[in-house]
Amino acid sequence: MNRFKVVVANPSVPKIAYDILQKHCDIKTSTVFSRASILQDVVGADALFWASKIRVDKELLDAAGPQLKVIGTMSVGYDQFDIDELKARGIKFGNTPAVLNNAVANIAVMLAIAASRRFTEGRKHIEEGTWINYFNTQWMLGQDLTGSTIGIIGLGQIGQAIAKRLKGFDVGNILYTGHKEKPEGIELGAKFVNLDNLIRESDFIFLAAPLNNQTYQMCNSDFFSKTKKTAVLVNISRGQLVDQEALITALKTGRLFAAGLDVMTPEPLNTDNELIKLNNVVLTPHVGSATNDTRNAMAELTAKNILRALGGAEMFTPVF
Ligand code: DGY
Repeated sequence: MNRFKVVVANPSVPKIAYDILQKHCDIKTSTVFSRASILQDVVGADALFWASKIRVDKELLDAAGPQLKVIGTMSVGYDQFDIDELKARGIKFGNTPAVLNNAVANIAVMLAIAASRRFTEGRKHIEEGTWINYFNTQWMLGQDLTGSTIGIIGLGQIGQAIAKRLKGFDVGNILYTGHKEKPEGIELGAKFVNLDNLIRESDFIFLAAPLNNQTYQMCNSDFFSKTKKTAVLVNISRGQLVDQEALITALKTGRLFAAGLDVMTPEPLNTDNELIKLNNVVLTPHVGSATNDTRNAMAELTAKNILRALGGAEMFTPVF
């Protein structure tokens, strides 16, 4: 196998990726997270190892040059790629599904419990000395997961992993919506419904669909006008699925009980953002897949995908 030039667009990529790639490739690592510097670094690359939010579009692909034929993204989501442009250039493209399902589903369940049981508010009471010092049976009451109706928007691998976990909490019903009814839904005992029914009936709504033209800002004021006032929204997908102003209004006006968000707009969130001030919001800084084992597995899979494609074989997890 010839030696190929691979550009790794992030200096924090786990070592395992280098161990795999360097047997057959010369690696250049982008050390600065700016578009301008990455545009220079990609010049002449045969393959890109992408672990970056920087958009891969015509300009970046032109900068890389026509020899670029392989891209592996160390993520399951790939909304930062101009897919039509990649396809038009015959670039082989793969992502990292499956290996992050457990980590992301775990954080989704954590957010559901933390938001429904008012963790942010409780923590503030402790910090601010407003933890009342007598037993008030009505203080800090939350919503129950047990017996609740769960609505999952997007029953892909992560949505399924969330459903599996929630069954262990003895939830009442699991509803899901998406393009079509899925055999996995039947195995999970989950019922396929339309979006409108899911919004109206769910006590917990999990956003587990990818960001695309159909899902962009799907949670808008119309959406929140139909949710139960006791409902909890959990988002582990992408912030842009939500019209954040509409969400904030719903949370402030009691149209929605609480939200648990691993993703938001923008990222990083500005420190004066209204979401941070709300007691009924639990936030984590887009760390769904951030465990040692998961990030190593994602790096390993991305490196192996790239090597496979450079060698003319199909990637382990191709998008196309
Ligand atoms: C993913 O894998 O898509 C994570 O959200 C990181 O962006």
